[in-house]
Amino acid sequence: MDQASSSVRSQSPTSRWHDRIKALGNIPPIFRMVWESAPKAVTAGLLFRFLVALTPVALLAVTRYIIDSLYRFLSHEQALPGYFWWLVALEFALACLATLLGRLVDFCDSVLADKFVRHISTKIMEHASRLDLTLYEDPAFCDKMERARVQGTDRVMMIQMIGRLIGQAITTVSLAAGIFFYSPWLLLFLVLCVVPAFLGETHFAFLGYSLNFEQTPARRLLEYLRVLGGSKESAKELKLFGLGPFLVGRYKNLSDELHRETVQLAKRRLVSGSLLTLLGTVGYYGTYAYVIYRTVQGALSLGQLTFLAGAIAGASTNIQTLFSTFSGIADQALFLTDLLEFLAVRPRVISKPGALSTPRPIRQGIEFRNVSFAYPSNPQLVLRGIHLHLSPGERLALVGENGQGKTTIAKLITRLYDPTEGEILLDGRDLREYDLEDLWKEVGVIFQDFMRYDMTAQENIGMGRVEVASNRFQIRAAAIKSYAENLITKLPKGYDQLLGCRFEGGVELSGGEWQKIALARAHLRDAQLLILDEPTAALDARSEHEIFERFTELVRGKMTILISHRFSTVRMADRILVLKGGRIAEQGSHDQLVKKGGHYAEMFELQAAGYR
Ligand SMILES: Nc1ncnc2c1ncn2[C@@H]1O[C@H](COP(=O)(O)OP(=O)(O)OP(=O)(O)O)[C@@H](O)[C@H]1O
Ligand SMILES: [Mg+2]
Repeated sequence: MDQASSSVRSQSPTSRWHDRIKALGNIPPIFRMVWESAPKAVTAGLLFRFLVALTPVALLAVTRYIIDSLYRFLSHEQALPGYFWWLVALEFALACLATLLGRLVDFCDSVLADKFVRHISTKIMEHASRLDLTLYEDPAFCDKMERARVQGTDRVMMIQMIGRLIGQAITTVSLAAGIFFYSPWLLLFLVLCVVPAFLGETHFAFLGYSLNFEQTPARRLLEYLRVLGGSKESAKELKLFGLGPFLVGRYKNLSDELHRETVQLAKRRLVSGSLLTLLGTVGYYGTYAYVIYRTVQGALSLGQLTFLAGAIAGASTNIQTLFSTFSGIADQALFLTDLLEFLAVRPRVISKPGALSTPRPIRQGIEFRNVSFAYPSNPQLVLRGIHLHLSPGERLALVGENGQGKTTIAKLITRLYDPTEGEILLDGRDLREYDLEDLWKEVGVIFQDFMRYDMTAQENIGMGRVEVASNRFQIRAAAIKSYAENLITKLPKGYDQLLGCRFEGGVELSGGEWQKIALARAHLRDAQLLILDEPTAALDARSEHEIFERFTELVRGKMTILISHRFSTVRMADRILVLKGGRIAEQGSHDQLVKKGGHYAEMFELQAAGYR
């Protein structure tokens, strides 16, 4: 294993029986989800399965009478009984019924599978949208989420297996009862021969799970490489840097390695599985030979022989499949651990019970009191002891070189993260006391890495406030404010134009055009605080100037935080904070800071010199 791939392995769970048994505890909660997703299909499926499961023993019983009657008739012992032909008809009817019921079971299964996948997928989506941002930056969590996502679609098989298990159990019990009635020892012998195969199956199922567990990070890397190799975002660099063969090579090596491991396990399973199953076959033929021997001795009638031979054959295969279905379920139940663990993850950034609603209007503003912050993945402080007060109606700008913590401040105000130390107050109360969704309603934020939705222009703006997403009037008003109106009306389908080139009929926009659309989203929100994180980076000088003049005019009376590297924009703010090394190095108006001749003046001079 090369170094690159050994670094993308998860610690696998220990291979102990204890874990396997424990995993069976996953089944009841999954049953609940199955039931929630389609109660009718579950009920109907179970009923049909029950009936189907009884048909083999019923068929054998009828056959037994037919053969015994025939034997007595042919050996001139007795005339054919009056109901003889009815028995033949009954056997035919039973066979037809079994086929029909089998089809109905399949139908219920497919309905259930569909509904279950839909149920789990929406459950995962709903849950994921509530989780902390921090979690998404944790690779172990992403692995778990990936496994959970796969569970949603793959575990359908398990549900069908459980259905099958129930059917097989009923058939087995009914056939076994027939054998037991004749000789309990025979049944015991039959069962004992199958147990080793069962244990082997379970063992390998567990190894399979462990392998899959270990391989998840590698599979995520594979998926990443695959997407990278075929996405619009990466296509330009891939071509020009000639990265295609490099990526393909890496993909091949890694997937070959995973494949090798999987095949290795499959081979081991093949060898031991075959040997153990052979033992089951020995059990079957042993009992079969014994029954024939007893018939030859005259202890059994031909009809009884037929019944027992059928029951032994049926029971032996059914016990084997019963065991392997059961170990399959145990194996699948292990996989469910991840789904259930994922669904059990609770967000930490949450609203308290009885949380406050956000004041409207905000009277005292926002205050940072000695706020320090470190991202969970890195203990180093990104912000150190920040004191800052933003009054209602104030326009604040944050400047500073890359990586000084500007975006981080925006993330703290919006409670995507909570401070490591210190507190952030809104109108004198800790932000954590407010209702989160209510708080988010009051902030309009456009981040540096804002979203470009592959949806229509109207929907792209409407995402800013879904309640009014279909209100063309309000959407247009927002677009006019951000100067997006002009570019949208020029699109072939105007506001109904699909944007982006993921789907057919979409039109790609330039970086600056996307930015204007994103800005319209912020304008659509009727928020008291607007945060624009480098909203003009992709805009040309004229657009930037126009947009900002208008922006400061339009949001008068609201609090705004503007993060920008362009001093022409920054100077429009009432107050400018200069961040350096996670602290506020300087603050004041543009003129004050230039006069002061400090860090700001130096950065401003550097940029201005570039234009001279
Ligand atoms: N999710 C994260 N996990 C860990 N560290 C992070 C994360 N996001 C940012 N950082 C680190 O925090 C520091 C501040 O990042 P931040 O994005 O706030 O900088 P910024 O001032 O907005 O920079 P820029 O001008 O480049 O946008 C950086 O050193 C960065 O490496
Ligand atoms: Mg930033």
